[in-house]
Amino acid sequence: MKTYLVTGGFGFIGSNFIRHILNMRKNAAVINADKLTYAANPKNLPDYPEDYKFYKIDIADKLELAKIFNENRIDFVVNFAAESHVDRSIAAPGIFVKTNVEGTLNLLELSMKHNVEKFLQISTDEAYGSLGAAGKFSEETPLSPRSPYSASKASADMLAMSFFHTYGMPVLISRCSNNYGPYQFPEKLIPLAIINALNNKDIPLYGDGRNIRDWIYVDDHVDAICLVLEKGKTGEVYNIGGNSEAENADIIKFILDKLNKPSSLIKYVKDRPGHDRRYAMDFSKITSETGFMPAYGIEKGIEKTIDWYIKNENWWKEILSGNYKEYYKEMYENR
Ligand code: NAD
Ligand code: TYD
Repeated sequence: MKTYLVTGGFGFIGSNFIRHILNMRKNAAVINADKLTYAANPKNLPDYPEDYKFYKIDIADKLELAKIFNENRIDFVVNFAAESHVDRSIAAPGIFVKTNVEGTLNLLELSMKHNVEKFLQISTDEAYGSLGAAGKFSEETPLSPRSPYSASKASADMLAMSFFHTYGMPVLISRCSNNYGPYQFPEKLIPLAIINALNNKDIPLYGDGRNIRDWIYVDDHVDAICLVLEKGKTGEVYNIGGNSEAENADIIKFILDKLNKPSSLIKYVKDRPGHDRRYAMDFSKITSETGFMPAYGIEKGIEKTIDWYIKNENWWKEILSGNYKEYYKEMYENR
């Protein structure tokens, strides 16, 4: 039996990862350590009575975090816990440093003390900065983060890798492109666009709408993480991409089209400060070392995602009717 400590397991990607591990692996136990911030939702995961434990914990609180390591034998640490939204990092960067940097340092120190078998730091292509019209990020691209969010993630990556070089700790880093799919909090572009379209509300499009992201369906990211844990080499970085570059305006038009909604719902708004123009991933390393290839193209992935948001209206209606309502109004309706 191997025990995974998954931080941020009630968030979007963490919950999809835990579901996958508990469904697919017979010999796996999962400990979910989550602070339950606004982005967390216990309803992202049904109750798993066996081989699953939850600790409500802030990874930035080392004493609290130490309890998990003292009470359990941990084999793998997969660190998803983070403040994850660029717009929020622009408005209030402090908590991004606290959670993403200090929290990661605490996890690294405790994981080293307790001799974990592998430590996987879940990171992002945003750590590389912004591309022009050509080229892709490889693992050799120098880190050049441009938002407080990406700066905090790049800092955590550097700390993680320093533990490999300095202490010989078995650290791996995966850097993935923009995810979308079930259980994504509706502040990110794709769920926001789907939900606003369903509600016949304007969809805010920043700047000229032609910024490019490489989109990946969350199940593909989860598969890639499992492969990195299984076959990746410690001390290495693995880029993960979806082979699906698209302009924001085209993503929104595709969603409106699928829902039979008019393009007049698109509302061009003031650009995000420091808005990265383009992300694109060269993920040939993970493909050649582990065999990873994304299974979903953008159209199939978005269709599946739309379907999920239609069938799970209660999930997002509950979010919109709670504390998030005021923030949502301020950020996305009154611009
Ligand atoms: P999310 O915002 O949906 O979830 C984050 C989770 O972390 C929440 O459950 C939250 O409660 C928890 N958390 C936040 N602060 C915490 C703290 N101090 N202690 C314990 N738990 C805390 O995020 P996500 O989109 O699922 O992203 C997960 C990870 O993947 C992040 O590290 C993010 O940087 C990375 N990533 C995300 C994307 C993407 O497109 N969403 C792409 C690449 C990498
Ligand atoms: P987002 O989902 O916030 O992810 P990230 O900033 O981490 O890439 O944004 C994706 C793209 O969509 C990004 O170029 C910003 C843009 N965007 C909008 O145009 N309107 C919106 O309301 C949001 C949330 C994002």
